[in-house]
Parts: sequence; C-alpha cells; structure tokens
Amino acid sequence: MSDVAYAKPIRVFHSIFAFCMLTQLAVGTLMDVPEVEGEHEASTWITSAFAHEAEHGMGSVEETLGFQVHEILGLVIGGLLVLRLLLAMTSLPGANWRKLFPWLFADGRQALKDEVQSQLSSWMKFKLAAPKDGEVVARSVHGFILLFSLVMAATGLQLYLGWSTIAPQTMWIELVAEVHEAAVTVLEALLVAHVLAVVLHQMQGHNILARIKP
Ligand code: HEM
Repeated sequence: MSDVAYAKPIRVFHSIFAFCMLTQLAVGTLMDVPEVEGEHEASTWITSAFAHEAEHGMGSVEETLGFQVHEILGLVIGGLLVLRLLLAMTSLPGANWRKLFPWLFADGRQALKDEVQSQLSSWMKFKLAAPKDGEVVARSVHGFILLFSLVMAATGLQLYLGWSTIAPQTMWIELVAEVHEAAVTVLEALLVAHVLAVVLHQMQGHNILARIKP
C-alpha cells in the first residue's frame, strides 16, 4: 500500500481549485449583479431569455467587470469539478469517491459512527486525532465541499444560460438563484470548518499540509 495520502494530480487540483473557489467567493460577494427591476417575466417558469444571445437593446443593463469575471471563473470551476469527478473514478491515492462519500455505504456509515463516538470528546476540546488514527469524518467533509461546489456550479451554469440583462428574471431563474446562494452559504460554513481543522492539525503537529502540497 502507498504511504502517499494524495496523488500528485489531487494535490495540484487542490491548489488550483482552492485558489479559484476563494477568488470566486470574494468576487461573488463584491460584484454588482446586472438586473432589470420589475415583475417576473410573463410569470413563466421557463427560461425565456438567453443572456448571452440577447441583443442589447433599449432598457438593457450593462454587465459589470466583476459579473463577467464571476461567469468566466464559474465555467473554469465547473471544468475543474468535471476533472475531479474523473479522478474520483481512478485508484489514485486519495482520489476515490468512496472515501469522499462514506455515508453512501453501510460500512462507511459504521466507520463514521465509530469515529464520531471515539473522537467526539476530544473534538469538544479542539483536539484532533492524527489522520492515521481516523480520517473518515474529515474525508466526508471534503466530499461535502465538492458536492456543494457541484450544486454551485450546476446552478451557476443554469444562471449563465438564463440570466437576462434585458428583462426581469423568470421565476425559474429566481428559484435557481436562491439555490445558488443557499449552496454558497453552506459551502462557506464548510470552508471555515475545513480551514479551522487544518490550523488545529498543524498546531498539534500532524503536518497535514505536507499531504496536500503539490
Ligand atoms: C487556506 C486554504 C486551504 C488550506 C490551507 C487547505 C488545506 C487542505 C489540506 C491540508 C488538505 C488535506 C487534508 C488531509 O490531510 O486529508 C485539504 C484537502 C482538501 N481541501 Fe483544502 N485547503 C484550503 C482551501 C480549500 C478550499 C477553498 C477548498 C474548496 C473550495 C478546499 C477543498 C479541499 C478538498 C476537496 C480536499 C480533499 C482533496 C480532494 O479530495 O480533492 N480546500 N485541504
């Protein structure tokens, strides 16, 4: 068995993905969203306006630079996630989807339960076990980060195709935007937990950064 926790492609992926995601979250918070005020377009659930094919006629709003960067970076992140999904189907160390989603399998759910039971009292004291003593929970947090990033990317793609700068959004697009924003909130909470766990591991001498450094 290999001693390497994460294969080189996963480690390179992590650096690029973390950079893109942190930039995207910052841009998404700071940007101005080009929106035409008013009632929902023809109260329809169907995407009626294709923002990127629309002619900019009277009453259209300009896309800001921040919004354009957000769109392009979103497409890049979508591509990175497809790449990570492909890696998850390989047997490269640290890549496999079974480790990311242990709760999908009976033995994985048991391992999660055992780890929580044996480590919960230490976690309450902000003390984390070294990865060699159990990392089922940590890996499933990584799985949730990827899962919610996927929700963000899928809803973002739908918004990219359907967002209108010439008319009020359809109800469907409004709903997709709500899901997109809710996914961002969950993701931010997961990332705070992720980075806090990394800091605690480093302080407790587990040097987990060495496992993921490209
Ligand atoms: C300051 C920023 C960050 C640091 C220091 C950091 C550090 C780490 C470390 C040390 C690991 C390996 C954990 C282990 O030993 O098992 C890891 C894994 C991981 N991190 Fe981060 N991380 C950061 C930001 C992010 C961001 C922004 C994301 C995603 C939005 C992310 C997603 C992941 C994922 C998914 C894994 C598991 C690797 C995989 O399966 O692809 N990290 N991170």
